[in-house]
Amino acid sequence: MASKHIPSTVRKIVALRSSHKFREVAKIVTEPTPKPGEGEILVKNRFVGINASDINFTAGRYDPKAKFPLDTGFEALGEVVAAGPKSLYQPGQAVMYCQYGAFSDYKVVNSNRVIPLPAVKAEFLPFILSGNTAAISLDRVGEIKEGETVLVTAAAGGTGQIAVQWAKLKGCHVIGTCSSDEKVQFLKDIGCDRPVNYTKENLRQVLKQEYPKGVDVVYEAVGGEMFDTCVDSLALKGRLIIIGYIEGYESDKGYKPSRVLATLPARLLPKSASVRGFFLFHYVSDWGPYVMKQVQYFNEGRMQSIVDKGERTPGGPFKGLEKVADAVEYLYSKKSIGKIVVELGEDTPRSNL
Ligand SMILES: NC(=O)c1ccc[n+]([C@@H]2O[C@H](COP(=O)([O-])OP(=O)(O)OC[C@H]3O[C@@H](n4cnc5c(N)ncnc54)[C@H](OP(=O)(O)O)[C@@H]3O)[C@@H](O)[C@H]2O)c1
Repeated sequence: MASKHIPSTVRKIVALRSSHKFREVAKIVTEPTPKPGEGEILVKNRFVGINASDINFTAGRYDPKAKFPLDTGFEALGEVVAAGPKSLYQPGQAVMYCQYGAFSDYKVVNSNRVIPLPAVKAEFLPFILSGNTAAISLDRVGEIKEGETVLVTAAAGGTGQIAVQWAKLKGCHVIGTCSSDEKVQFLKDIGCDRPVNYTKENLRQVLKQEYPKGVDVVYEAVGGEMFDTCVDSLALKGRLIIIGYIEGYESDKGYKPSRVLATLPARLLPKSASVRGFFLFHYVSDWGPYVMKQVQYFNEGRMQSIVDKGERTPGGPFKGLEKVADAVEYLYSKKSIGKIVVELGEDTPRSNL
């Protein structure tokens, strides 16, 4: 096994018990550095991605039987620093991966579960979880086609920014919801045709007046009243993809009730419309090709990848595992733009959360 600059211990964030209050249950712990076995690699994580569902995971909503303390974090990008026998990559290779327990300075992963990259670059990180969710779901579940109208909710966020651009690249007309004028400008900059700041404009009325035939596909990540509005705004044969329901994640149940749910059949059937769920971990075989496509579009200048390292917020910039809780709370502040990323340097501070 080849290796370089590997400490004898590594740090990671665990959730001590089940709760959606990330900061209250997250703790940095130290353990002996794991060694890569056959087919495995040890990755020095340089950037980890923050996701809305980080709090669903600590709340045990991914696995009600999850055992605590539970390793946290979904995704990381870094460099291979050691490789076990028969592993696919050697030290020095830039890789990213999406795997539970990513909030760690170093992590052992199976080499066939990582995606090789041309360089260690934060701008690639949005493509694996957020970008793949957008691109794969719009293609496979939303079945978007050129000329269709696509509505993206939470459009200025980590996954929303890619959904907007992916639908534009497919030749769709894109409407995007957001909560500030700064985000409206951002959405214009990434090509969104009709940004809607729902704190100033009534989305239901905008859709009714400007899109009287309805929207063909909705990328719906918010839930509650937003979900209801989107269902009512579907066109004939429209498809709504349930991407998430963030509005309920900070509640004890994890979701907020939908007003239209009881009458959903009567709302959908007359329009031959449908509501479809999407969960990224059910589409693993698509991850590699879809990341490569996004990297290609990015390199060709056809797709932007905006990362938010927290420079504009008092808790930022986000550097080191100590800042992960700040970064998670920043996501719920509704102020972030693009994908929230925490940088893990070579020498991260040694204090606790
Ligand atoms: N199904 C899957 O496999 C999958 C994978 C990845 C992500 N997701 C889902 O995609 C959604 C976005 O996740 P993300 O990680 O990319 O987050 P994000 O969009 O970067 O950040 C969350 C954004 O959601 C909007 N939002 C609306 N209501 C909110 C509320 N009550 N509290 C907080 N934010 C609210 C805010 O934008 P505005 O203020 O501008 O509205 C906020 O900036 C989530 O629902 C998540 O669960 C699903």
